[in-house]
Amino acid sequence: MNLMKKILVAQATVLALWAVSAQATTDEEIAARIKPVGVVCVQGDECAKAVAVAAPVASAGRSADDIITKHCAACHVSGLLGAPIVGETADWQALADAKGGLDGILATAISGINAMPAKGTCSDCSDDELMSAIKTMSGL
Ligand code: HEC
Repeated sequence: MNLMKKILVAQATVLALWAVSAQATTDEEIAARIKPVGVVCVQGDECAKAVAVAAPVASAGRSADDIITKHCAACHVSGLLGAPIVGETADWQALADAKGGLDGILATAISGINAMPAKGTCSDCSDDELMSAIKTMSGL
C-alpha cells in the first residue's frame, strides 16, 4: 500500500468511527425523546398497587360538572346526533319513564346506545359519577 492509500484508509476509518459515535448519541437522544411518558401497570404488579390507591382519590375530586364538561357536553349541550339536551327536563323525563326511571337510563348510558358511546366516553367513571352527571344534565 502506498502512502497516499494509507492516509485515505486512515481518514476513512476516522470518519466511520465518528459517524458511528455521532449516530449513537443521536439514538440516545431519540430514545430519550420518544420514551413513554407513563408506565403501563398490569394488575398484580407492584406499581399497580400505587395506582389502585391513587385512583379513588383522583376520581373523588370529580364533580358532575367536571364530568359533563369533559365527557358529555360535546353531544348533550347541542343535542348532537339526537342526544337529549341539557336542561330539557321533559325530554329526559320521557326517556326515564320509558326505561323505568333514572336507573334505566343510567343502564343505557353505561352500555351505550346508537350514537351514545358506552359510559359517554368516560370509561373510568363510576356508576355514581355517571348518575350525578345524568341528574345534573336532566334536572331530574
Ligand atoms: C358522542 C356523543 C355523546 C356523548 C359524548 C355522550 N352522549 Fe349521551 N347520548 C348521545 C346520544 C346520541 C343519545 C341518544 C341515543 C339514542 O337514544 O339513540 C344519548 C343518550 C343518553 C342518555 C339517555 C339514554 C336512554 O336510555 O335513552 C343518557 C342517560 C346519556 N346519554 C348520558 C350521557 C352521559 C352521562 C355522558 C357523559 C359521561 C354522555 N351521555 C355522553 C350522545 C352522546
